[in-house]
Amino acid sequence: MRTPPPAVVRFVQRLSRTLGRAGAALKPRQARLLDLTGGVAAIMLMRAAVQTRLVEPLAAGPLTAGEVARRLGLHADTVHRVLRGLAVYGLARLAPDGRFSLTSTGRLLLDGDPHSMAGWIRYVTSPMVILGWSRLPETLRDGRPAFNAATGTTIWQHLAEHPEEEEGFARTMRELTLLAAPLIIAAYPWPRSGTVCDVGGGAGGMLAEVLRAREGLRGLLVDQPGPLAAARDYLASQGVADRVDLVEGDLFDGLEASADVYLLKDVLHDWDDAQCARILGTIRAAAPRGARVLILEWLQEPNRAEFPVSISDLMMLAQTEGRQRSADEFFAIAAEAGFAAGRVIDSGAYGIVELTAV
Ligand SMILES: C[S@@+](CC[C@H](N)C(=O)[O-])C[C@H]1O[C@@H](n2cnc3c(N)ncnc32)[C@H](O)[C@@H]1O
Repeated sequence: MRTPPPAVVRFVQRLSRTLGRAGAALKPRQARLLDLTGGVAAIMLMRAAVQTRLVEPLAAGPLTAGEVARRLGLHADTVHRVLRGLAVYGLARLAPDGRFSLTSTGRLLLDGDPHSMAGWIRYVTSPMVILGWSRLPETLRDGRPAFNAATGTTIWQHLAEHPEEEEGFARTMRELTLLAAPLIIAAYPWPRSGTVCDVGGGAGGMLAEVLRAREGLRGLLVDQPGPLAAARDYLASQGVADRVDLVEGDLFDGLEASADVYLLKDVLHDWDDAQCARILGTIRAAAPRGARVLILEWLQEPNRAEFPVSISDLMMLAQTEGRQRSADEFFAIAAEAGFAAGRVIDSGAYGIVELTAV
């Protein structure tokens, strides 16, 4: 599929928000509120579906709940009720003869779908994430990052101690990154040669896309051992492994990585302002004068309530020490670390905030 221009993406996003609001306004307010309370049912039904691979038998065509239950060894009546619930949310269809089929959105629950979001569903409904959200009332009182306060650890320590979850998280982040990458690639004038270093680059999704778009570039992927392990095969599968060096490194502890362009995609939103200044300081110490840093994040203006950025901001509150920021907020932090402000580009999916090492 061709990548639509950012202006088209923005128009479609605005139109869909306006139509959504107009549709909601037609309902009585109690019904609108009731719709919102269904959110928990929607995500928990999706969780149950991906955990049991409930919709996999429907990939080839319509089946009754009984047929699905027999193939998976599940309880038939409950399968019917759960699939009917998924149909309420537009993920499945229920025909009058009792057979279920998948909608195009529902197909994203299939592990094998090329655009599968099953990993994302597993992550956003995981006990680790739900725990952070459930502490929000206390966080409102004390402002402490919810997950850290609830567990006495950080999400990064938790992931390092649970390698399966760590790998799942790295793969899920890559799935999300691959959704936005074509727009980010199209929106920025990437150099034709030199080195791009993806700092906190996870399982390598963004870096692979940049290198595939520019054959003359080399790459450095900096992260912790777990995500780097998840990156290795992927980079090979994308045909770029021979142009990438994997660098085990700590965001706060000195980087052995000299590059022309540094990427920070969805990394700074995990950290508070002082930690962001330290991360940028780490990069500044490694970067030659004139090197660029590209902060790739959804940008949050303080007084604009917008999906998905304002909800991602709360996800950061529930899970990490960070937040979503505006370009001006990034520039203020970066100035302290020795970077000059550059361009701000709206890719239609993510903001690209450019800094130059001075
Ligand atoms: C939200 S993920 C973003 C991953 C990737 N940039 C993407 O967008 O797909 C944040 C990344 O920061 C990495 N990270 C967290 N703490 C780190 C540290 N102290 N040193 C190096 N990497 C770290 C995590 O392992 C994770 O891959």
